[in-house]
Amino acid sequence: MTGARLVPPQVGPPPSGERRKGDIEVCGTGSTPRYGLRRLVGVEVRAFCRFRQRNVVQRVVLAVAMTVSLCVYERRVEVGGCAACLLSPRPARMAGGVAATVLMLGAVGATHPVVATGLVVGVVLVFLPAAARAVRALPAKRALRRMRPPGRHIYLHSLASIAPGAGSKLLRSVAQEADDNEWSLVLDAENEHLAKFYERFGFIALGAPVSMPNGERFVRMWRPAARQARRL
Ligand SMILES: CC(C)(COP(=O)(O)OP(=O)(O)OC[C@H]1O[C@@H](n2cnc3c(N)ncnc32)[C@H](O)[C@@H]1OP(=O)(O)O)[C@@H](O)C(=O)NCCC(=O)NCCS
Repeated sequence: MTGARLVPPQVGPPPSGERRKGDIEVCGTGSTPRYGLRRLVGVEVRAFCRFRQRNVVQRVVLAVAMTVSLCVYERRVEVGGCAACLLSPRPARMAGGVAATVLMLGAVGATHPVVATGLVVGVVLVFLPAAARAVRALPAKRALRRMRPPGRHIYLHSLASIAPGAGSKLLRSVAQEADDNEWSLVLDAENEHLAKFYERFGFIALGAPVSMPNGERFVRMWRPAARQARRL
C-alpha cells in the first residue's frame, strides 16, 4: 500500500444522473501500520457486535464478509491496531479476488465435482439471508445514491473501534490525509447518533435519514475536499 501512486478525486460541477464509471477513485497510499487480516477482522467483528445483538451464525457471516472486504478495500488502521476503516474498493484487487475464486472452484470442480458443488451450496446457504436483506434494501440504497456530492469522492466504509477514542483518532488521521490530498469523503452513518459523531470531523448530512428494512436510519454524509469546503 505504501509508495503507490495517488489518484486524487477530481473536483468539478455536480454531475447529473447516476454514478459514472470511475466515479469513486481509490487512494493508493498511506502511512498505515500493517496488522494481520485476522486481527483486523477481529476488530471489525467485535466493534460491530458491541452495539447489536448478534448470534454465532451472524458473527461468522460478518467475519467472512469482513475478510472479503478487507482484501478488496483500501485499509487504514490506527497505530495501536484497535481501530480500522476501509476506503473505496480497489478494482484490481476485486477483479483478482473474483478470478482467483473462479479458478479455484474450476480446479476443485474438475477433480472433485462433489466437493465443488458442496462449496458453492455452502456459500449460497451462508450468504442467502444476507443476499435477501441486500435485495430488500435496494430501494433505500438507491435513495442514498441519489444524494450525490459534487465531483468525485472516496467512500469511507465500516469504521470500527474496540478502544474508546481509537476510532476518532483514526478518523482524524483519515480527515488529515483527505485534506492533504484534496479528497472529498462520503459515508453512510448507520443512525442519527452516529451522524452527530461524524459531524465532529467535518461531515455534513446530504439529506434526510433513509429508513432501511431492518429499522436503521442511514444518513448519507459528505466531507468536502478542503478547496470545496472553502467555497461553501
Ligand atoms: C463509531 C466508532 C468507530 C467510534 O469509535 P471511537 O472514536 O473509538 O469512540 P467510541 O467508541 O467511544 O464512540 C464514540 C461515540 O459514538 C457512539 N456510537 C458508536 N457506535 C455507535 C452505533 N453503532 N450507534 C450509535 N452510536 C454509536 C458512542 O455511543 C459514542 O457516543 P458519544 O460520543 O455521544 O458518547 C466505534 O464506536 C465503533 O466501532 N462502533 C461500532 C461500529 C460502528 O457502528 N461503526 C460505524 C458505522 S457507520
